[in-house]
Amino acid sequence: MKIAVVFGTRPEIIKLSPIVRALNKKGQDFFVIHTNQHYDKNMDEIFLEELELPKAKYNLNIGSGTHANMTGRMLIEVEKILLSEKPDLLIVQGDTNTVLSVSLAASKLHIKVAHIEAGLRSYTKIPEETNRVLTDRISDFCFTPTELQKEILTGEGIDSENIFVVGNTIVDAVIENLKIAENKVKTLEKFDLEPNKYFLVTAHREENVDNQTKAEDILKAISDIQKKHDVKIIFPTHPRTKKQFENFELKLPENIIFTPPLGYLDMLILMKNAKLILTDSGGIQEEACILETPCLTMREATERPESIKVGGNTIVGTDYDKIIEEAEKMLNKKITWYNPFGDGTSAEKIVDILVQN
Ligand code: UD1
Ligand code: UDP
Repeated sequence: MKIAVVFGTRPEIIKLSPIVRALNKKGQDFFVIHTNQHYDKNMDEIFLEELELPKAKYNLNIGSGTHANMTGRMLIEVEKILLSEKPDLLIVQGDTNTVLSVSLAASKLHIKVAHIEAGLRSYTKIPEETNRVLTDRISDFCFTPTELQKEILTGEGIDSENIFVVGNTIVDAVIENLKIAENKVKTLEKFDLEPNKYFLVTAHREENVDNQTKAEDILKAISDIQKKHDVKIIFPTHPRTKKQFENFELKLPENIIFTPPLGYLDMLILMKNAKLILTDSGGIQEEACILETPCLTMREATERPESIKVGGNTIVGTDYDKIIEEAEKMLNKKITWYNPFGDGTSAEKIVDILVQN
């Protein structure tokens, strides 16, 4: 069986790295296509290096654009490769424009599609929801993190024979890389931080940072939280966010440490040692839960309700008062942790299932 593994953005590279490792271990015939939806060194290359991924056989050099522009160009470019390489199976992960485009191209060429992290739903009208709903619909293998997504998919009419509950490969990635990070990087020293004496913030979602009021509310809330709680706050800033802060001419609070996006090893250390994480990232909600760091999610809804159920995550939106209030509550709450996202063997399970079928 010949397999194409496709990624394009930071979280896909991270969450597919255990799959690449498992394919290598099992001696499977596979090649990598990188759409390069993300292309800055610290959104792309740094992860390929840190996670020791093989060089992509094909790079589509797609870069940025409007949704239709990116999706259309990826469809056209990936089809050419699929026609010449004729893989039997395509593996994608998550809910980005990369995922939808390449799955659509493969599906119409009768190439089987395996969708990792299938069945997540926020039930909000955001681009990622469109991408995941459509990708699940055309996938031959839907690999879900928990039973919840299996229920969702069967409820949507997806054949249960095509659904496999395997956990989330992010657990594999955290386990594989945390020890390496602890031995290799000196992140806290680099930013003059002490364990449990700082908060970590990230925000990049289109529905947040492309909206001036929401972007302003987030900045004001974190600045005031810093003053209130006598902690440092570090904010590795996604390029979309940086661009939008500049477009809106927002004054960045001086009491926040803004950094360019960080590598995965630095990020693991920051997440593990933070007293609190405030984020709108999907992956970071999961990692916070896995690493037992309390989290506030600055979105109106989450497609990862498992971490809320555990008690370690709360939805706060971008409302100033709510962020301040819930930060206080979360810091005073006793949380009994368990990790709902699997035991770190998801990648092996996925590859075994694909090989057997
Ligand atoms: C994309 C995904 C989102 C995911 C996120 C992970 C879609 C629809 N969105 O959002 O689900 O959570 O990746 O980070 O696929 N930019 C750069 N350099 C880069 C990449 C982006 O400067 O290397 C800037 C460009 O101005 C670009 C903007 O960021 O227009 C947005 O990039 P894009 O890939 O469209 O969406 P993300 O916000 O990164
Ligand atoms: N991440 C990172 N450096 C950063 C910010 C995030 O390595 O500066 C990692 C993070 O730990 C997680 C992934 O990138 O594994 C999440 O990516 P992002 O928040 O961009 O996307 P999402 O998960 O929301 O789709």
